[in-house]
Amino acid sequence: MNLPVKYRPKTFEEVAGQQHVTRTLQNALKTGRISQAYLFAGPRGVGKTTTARILAKGLNCEKGVTPHPCNQCEICREIDEGKSLDVIEIDGASNRGIEEIRSLREKIRFTPAKARYKVYIIDEVHMLTTEAFNALLKTLEEPPPHVIFIFATTEPRKIPETVISRTQRFDFRPLSKKEIAERLKFVAEKEGIEVHPDALMRIAKYADGSLRDGLALLEQLYVFSNGPIKVEDVNQVLGIIDEEIFVKIIESALKGNTKDVLEMANNAFDQGYSVHEFTRSFSEAVQELTRAKFYGEKNPFYELAQKISKSQLVATMKIALDMEEVARYTQNPRVGIDYQLIRLSYLDKILRIDKVLEEAGVYLVEERPIEKKHEEPKKPEERKEAGHVTEKEEPQESLKERLMDLLEEKAKKEPQQPEEKKADEEVIRAAEEEKVEKDEVGVIERDKLLKTLEEHIPFVTTVIEKSYLRIDNSNIFVGVKDDFEKDLVLRHRNKILFILYDRFKTKFSLLVDIVDEEVRASEEKEDNLSPALKKLMDKFDLEVIKDV
Ligand SMILES: Nc1ncnc2c1ncn2[C@@H]1O[C@H](COP(=O)(O)OP(=O)(O)OP(=O)(O)O)[C@@H](O)[C@H]1O
Ligand SMILES: [Mg+2]
Ligand SMILES: [Zn+2]
Repeated sequence: MNLPVKYRPKTFEEVAGQQHVTRTLQNALKTGRISQAYLFAGPRGVGKTTTARILAKGLNCEKGVTPHPCNQCEICREIDEGKSLDVIEIDGASNRGIEEIRSLREKIRFTPAKARYKVYIIDEVHMLTTEAFNALLKTLEEPPPHVIFIFATTEPRKIPETVISRTQRFDFRPLSKKEIAERLKFVAEKEGIEVHPDALMRIAKYADGSLRDGLALLEQLYVFSNGPIKVEDVNQVLGIIDEEIFVKIIESALKGNTKDVLEMANNAFDQGYSVHEFTRSFSEAVQELTRAKFYGEKNPFYELAQKISKSQLVATMKIALDMEEVARYTQNPRVGIDYQLIRLSYLDKILRIDKVLEEAGVYLVEERPIEKKHEEPKKPEERKEAGHVTEKEEPQESLKERLMDLLEEKAKKEPQQPEEKKADEEVIRAAEEEKVEKDEVGVIERDKLLKTLEEHIPFVTTVIEKSYLRIDNSNIFVGVKDDFEKDLVLRHRNKILFILYDRFKTKFSLLVDIVDEEVRASEEKEDNLSPALKKLMDKFDLEVIKDV
């Protein structure tokens, strides 16, 4: 039994979730408007190779060029079995060099043995070397009319623009959890495999957009479990710790119960879960909690979400990210995990710095102007004497007043140079006009973008927020720290673009790559601070303590 192979769709109609591709291809076959080169881009296991083969059948079926290949004739059958001499599948990963492409160029001159077209399916085409691409390009410039290329790739960004521009491009999308679940259900029924519905959904979730992974997992579970497949089986095979444990851990943390938190985690390790499995499950749990909190998703964390504050949740996300880091980079991760769990157990004491500042009338991220209290004349005894800024500030004092006090005090200590005074005035003006400055491009664009994303994908947004972020018109570049973050952001790429399109009605392009510390740090300084605050900080040599 090899479910992915056994259930490879044989018709366009059977290909799940890629109607935007299959319909267009079927139309082309119907009208005879055939391209000489196609590019199928998309994540792994979503139907690229499958669709390429169906297209090859549609081109070559003995019944004629057709959107509905018969699957009966010799040619169709040979293609299905991978035996056709005229449909050649080349793995770009193992035939990367110029030699292979040269010999391909030699061969394509010969007319097809039996079929109408010689179809070359080059998988993982992005793996070709530059020379091979150049050779390929020559072929693409003047391909013999009987030759059709189908390139498949998981990484279209690595293909030279000159090659892409000579192809008709189709973007395959990751399949939704629902689409995967439906197909799995269909296959399970055909095979007489019993699966509990919630187990099915969990498999669909962990397939993460790839139907191949979903089917492979279903098969693995079938072999593994005797009797119907249950959620616990899925958890065990995938090394997922049950959500229930994390609900309890976070609940204890909210009560400040360090001992319970540590004990429950230790139990999980005693049961044989690895540090990696623990941190991953914790991250998953936090993601679900986030969804429950921010858009009321009715998942196992829904109740807990009512008990945790937004600030506490943000702190929990940070701990989840730190934990992943610990798990990957430290010699003895268990110590690091315990440390993070202890931090977690202080959740009840967490207050975010912007909350504190907000109470003092300073807004860091919010698009709110600094409140201008109308100047009530103060009674003389209430007026604080300049030069005596005490520890306990009156909470009602506005930022402007506070600045004035600080500046006056400074002026007393050291007589000011005229330019310096001007600069100070500017700081104050800037503080007053903060709203206006914020609406200008630059700082605010970043904020708006992050804010928009945060509403939908808070977890990913925390990663982007920590990264180097450059917005150039409609081009967004995110410089992340490592493969893990890159993967995470890339997995949400379509979603991000969709959210941004929905909000700003602009088609953005998103580039994600790993950049080193220095680059990321270069922007960190600017971060979310308003221009006024930045100047202020420079002035008084203040720094932001990031860790909350
Ligand atoms: N859209 C889909 N509809 C139905 N089955 C699918 C679909 N996508 C993938 N599958 C299943 O997964 C198997 C592998 O799919 P396929 O080889 O087409 O993936 P791919 O996109 O080419 O992936 P890769 O990039 O890893 O080569 C298929 O044989 C089929 O069983
Ligand atoms: Mg493939
Ligand atoms: Zn046929």
